[in-house]
Amino acid sequence: MKNSICELFQIKYPIVQGGMIWCSGWELASAVSNAGGLGLIGSGSMYPEIFEEHVLKCKKATDKPFGVNVPLLYPQTDEIVEIIVKHGIKIVFTSAGNPAKYTSYLKDKGITVVHVVANKKFASKAQAAGVDAIVAEGFEAGGHNGIEETTTMVLIPMLKQEIDIPIIAAGGIASGSSIFAALALGAEGVQIGSLFASSVESSAHENFKNKIISAGDGSTKLTLKSVVPVRLIKNDFFNEVAQAESKGASREELISLLGKGRSKL
Ligand SMILES: Cc1cc2nc3c(=O)[nH]c(=O)nc-3n(C[C@H](O)[C@H](O)[C@H](O)COP(=O)(O)O)c2cc1C
Repeated sequence: MKNSICELFQIKYPIVQGGMIWCSGWELASAVSNAGGLGLIGSGSMYPEIFEEHVLKCKKATDKPFGVNVPLLYPQTDEIVEIIVKHGIKIVFTSAGNPAKYTSYLKDKGITVVHVVANKKFASKAQAAGVDAIVAEGFEAGGHNGIEETTTMVLIPMLKQEIDIPIIAAGGIASGSSIFAALALGAEGVQIGSLFASSVESSAHENFKNKIISAGDGSTKLTLKSVVPVRLIKNDFFNEVAQAESKGASREELISLLGKGRSKL
């Protein structure tokens, strides 16, 4: 297939494997790149030295293009960015932060930059910051999410009217027909997360993979909206949060319930 996203990343299929904390290390990223998509190492859960190891292993495992997802909310971002530049990584997807912060620095280093957005305001901000494409991530997506709750089906045509750079659709895409639907709406590529998180090459725990595979409609809910909106599988922790929220827990109480390192559990 030939389109702007295949050309931008020099890949065969316009399918990006979303960067995912605790799931997308070098094994998953290189497997997706070797299969003709774009694999992304998810740097968000990695200490800088661990991240560097993943970069080196990924380079050994594939001679195809791969990239790195950099969520902009972690304290080690500067160090991660320096490792990216040091090892000549050519593709960076930023998320969860201000696209103006690193885009021009990365572009000056010859890096293709994509930013993940969930609404019109950030799509325009990302375009103004000079990114090469955006990931438009709808309400259906796993992981962190926008509070607007705009679905992928609504977000793509809305952003298509708003911006001129290519759009990669994300959220709820897990089959050939949903890829086709995203392209019909005006996206030129897709970013897939949950499906890849449950793959053999994902570094997630087997129990987590099985939870994703056995999840049905109504199995997840966007929650913790006042702290950090995130789609949770309805498990014991979800019930604790729901109970606290129904009792009117404050933001501080929810932050303390969330604790540190919760996303690894
Ligand atoms: C377990 C998990 C972890 C994720 N971690 C990140 C992350 O670190 N950075 C990021 O930009 N997006 C992250 N995401 C979002 C994905 O990259 C992707 O955009 C999203 O999963 C697409 O929606 P889908 O799960 O319906 O395919 C994560 C998603 C999941 C399911």
